[in-house]
Amino acid sequence: MKIDGRTAIITGASTGIGRETARELARRGASVVLASRSREKLEAVAAGLPAPAARCLVVPTDVTDRLAVEGLIRRTAEEFGGIDILVNNAGVGLFAPIVGGSIDNMHHLFNVNFWGAVHCIQAAAPYMRSQRQGHIVNVSSVAGRIAPPLMGMYSASKFALIALSDAVRAELSGSGVAVSTIYPGLTETSFEENMMREAEMPGLPPFLRYATAATVARRIALAIRWRIRDVYIAPEDVAAVSLNTVAPQLVDWVVRNLWLIPFSPQPRDLALPPAEEEAEPSREQAEPPERPEA
Ligand SMILES: NC(=O)c1ccc[n+]([C@@H]2O[C@H](COP(=O)([O-])OP(=O)(O)OC[C@H]3O[C@@H](n4cnc5c(N)ncnc54)[C@H](OP(=O)(O)O)[C@@H]3O)[C@@H](O)[C@H]2O)c1
Repeated sequence: MKIDGRTAIITGASTGIGRETARELARRGASVVLASRSREKLEAVAAGLPAPAARCLVVPTDVTDRLAVEGLIRRTAEEFGGIDILVNNAGVGLFAPIVGGSIDNMHHLFNVNFWGAVHCIQAAAPYMRSQRQGHIVNVSSVAGRIAPPLMGMYSASKFALIALSDAVRAELSGSGVAVSTIYPGLTETSFEENMMREAEMPGLPPFLRYATAATVARRIALAIRWRIRDVYIAPEDVAAVSLNTVAPQLVDWVVRNLWLIPFSPQPRDLALPPAEEEAEPSREQAEPPERPEA
């Protein structure tokens, strides 16, 4: 799809990959709708957009709030007469073990990374279908193909996003709506800083390289322009994912021995629920029942 003259909604547009994607699409002549929670940051992005952005609209939106997302989509359609491109980019990270990790953090992660995308797709796809054209981009991750330790819930949310992309692509086939999945690897953004953390994050091995957010944004634009189904950023990401398909035990070994596992909590560090006999006696056990008077 030609990007010039189209209307694009980008979620998580206040920083990082989302901000660079908004800039890239604006540079290519799209009208951009910037969505994330922070109005202040979105307005700063809007003020710095390169020419020739046709128009820009800032709509502060929490993607976990389905009604707010419906408002974002409705407002876009009213202002621009339709929605051509949806980039589901809003996301958070969680560095925490599965066993013993906070269930609340896990729910929040899925609410943003997975349900946020579902809300946006459900609200935007009917407009695209009625126009008989549109492009949905879901920003997953290499972690949606390989699940590193202490990133398990994050990976699960990104695996789920890939499944969502594949199924909705098939469901919308023939309607003129295309769906792309993007698989960034390590990217220089404030993602790690913003990540929810329940464990100390070790430094990553020095051989791992970071891509820039601008590089990821250019790949997103290419995916839209040429209707590309799956887009990776770095050759080493493709190599790692391919190796994981043909030799998963080898990748397990590398991840265990060269990445984070030496730092993850060992079973002895995890608090176990007290064994039954050690548990606090209940009131009935502590105080013998009163004897009925003879
Ligand atoms: N950086 C990496 O290494 C990397 C690698 C692979 C994949 N990714 C994926 O790339 C995407 C962008 O991440 P990034 O690296 O650019 O990180 P980032 O700089 O932390 O950006 C995250 C964006 O998501 C928005 N956001 C968070 N919670 C939200 C919510 N409830 N509703 C709406 N917006 C919300 C944030 O804006 P507000 O705070 O204003 O809401 C921010 O704009 C994410 O989906 C991430 O999983 C990143």
